[in-house]
Amino acid sequence: MSIPTTTPESAVPAADPGPAVANLETIVSLAKRRGFVYPSSEIYGGINAVWDYGPLGVERKNNVKRAWWRSMVQERDDIVGLDAGILMHPQVWVTSGHVGSFSDPLVECATCRRRFRIDELPGAEGLSATDLRDETIVGRLGLACPVDGGALSAPRRFNLMFQTYMGPVQDEANIVYLRPETAQGSYVNFKNVQQSSRRKLPFGIAQIGKSFRNEISPGNFVFRMREFEQMEMQYFVRPGDAAAAAFEEWLPRRRAWYERHGVSPSRLRLREHAPDELAHYAKKAVDVEYRFPFGWKELEGVHNRGDFDLGSHARSSGENLEYFDPVSEEHYVPWVVETAAGADRAAFTVLIDSHHEEEVKGETRVVLRLHPDLAPYKVAVLPLLKKRPEIVDLCHRIKDDLKRDLMAVYDDTAAIGKLYRRQDEIGTPWCVTVDVDSLEDGAVTVRDRDTMRQERIPVARIRRAILDRMEAARAD
Ligand code: GAP
Repeated sequence: MSIPTTTPESAVPAADPGPAVANLETIVSLAKRRGFVYPSSEIYGGINAVWDYGPLGVERKNNVKRAWWRSMVQERDDIVGLDAGILMHPQVWVTSGHVGSFSDPLVECATCRRRFRIDELPGAEGLSATDLRDETIVGRLGLACPVDGGALSAPRRFNLMFQTYMGPVQDEANIVYLRPETAQGSYVNFKNVQQSSRRKLPFGIAQIGKSFRNEISPGNFVFRMREFEQMEMQYFVRPGDAAAAAFEEWLPRRRAWYERHGVSPSRLRLREHAPDELAHYAKKAVDVEYRFPFGWKELEGVHNRGDFDLGSHARSSGENLEYFDPVSEEHYVPWVVETAAGADRAAFTVLIDSHHEEEVKGETRVVLRLHPDLAPYKVAVLPLLKKRPEIVDLCHRIKDDLKRDLMAVYDDTAAIGKLYRRQDEIGTPWCVTVDVDSLEDGAVTVRDRDTMRQERIPVARIRRAILDRMEAARAD
């Protein structure tokens, strides 16, 4: 569900660390210039709130998804994966509550007809969920159109689901929705997964996939989009205390995942939802928030959903979704603890947080200190002299050898100093430089992105040396 940005005073830490990058434009322009993110359909003027990932962006986002899958599925014995369809039976969304209440409060300007999400209007920031439901709120706060000062309508609810038609006939009976969350795919497949993989509770189902929301006011670059990817895990547990305990375990674990992948701990915080702010399915919800250049915002939500989902789907479908507990010999509907993250938002966060500018020998060096697991390229192989065919040849042999295990790139389109700066700016952790001496001594220089220290390593050991460094970064 879309979450109002209200921040209870008690959750605000004493000191604001400030954003990693003062101006979002710095990131937007780097992302476009270096091929991380482009506006969708740009030659036609773009389409609002849809973004395309360029060659480096798709690598970084794939790396984020891989890192999430590794920690949520590969490294755990109690979680399995699923890839459910984007289109589902329309009844799923009635039962889940999305048709009835997946909406944001919208106001419309009487003169320019522009529409706004009410909690994003100047003067309405920080409203409680109760305020957002108050029909007199526009008059009470004296809100006006931020563009032309026109009168605003009373708020009305705007459903965020995209709908389309299944089959050739476009009528009511054939409406289907583009899923607004991946979670429902895991609930409706609970029994399939539990039985086919012979799982005992507690166990989880993890999914990564596209979701779609017709956001009223998307923006802040890729922060809020209309088409985006989620990384969600549904953890099924015994009802009651076991859910509360699982929640308390998952919350710090999910915060730690961002820290382990290089996000500054001081720019992360937890924020519990106020009772009137909770989504219709949630008994308890805490957001992991990040200090973006535009304020503290949700990065991921951890939710105790109780038996809302399985209970509702069981009643609505007539299917028995109870679990037989072989230990207590009871039948019950499991409760769910959900960890709901965004792949785009996580990739955006690591891009912002890794961005550094520093003075080196009187010049500004821009460096993305990305965790090596998330960096688009792990290694760049560079010739000191591109006119020497033996040097270029050795570069290609080293690069091809590295490519068997990781993303490596060759570049000879500038002098070495400039080549290093280019790789720094896209976050490549290591550069391997081949020079004239390499032809004699069979060794090359490995330069570290963060320390800029250089080390001479025999060509025969390069692959092992880089893989060891990758492993060490993962163990940190
Ligand atoms: N299944 C629960 C659920 O969907 P949510 O808080 O609405 O919860 C989970 O979404 C995560 O999905 C968010 O924390 C965010 O990272 C990502 N997300 C949600 N809406 C998004 C949007 N419009 N653009 C980009 N990411 C979004």
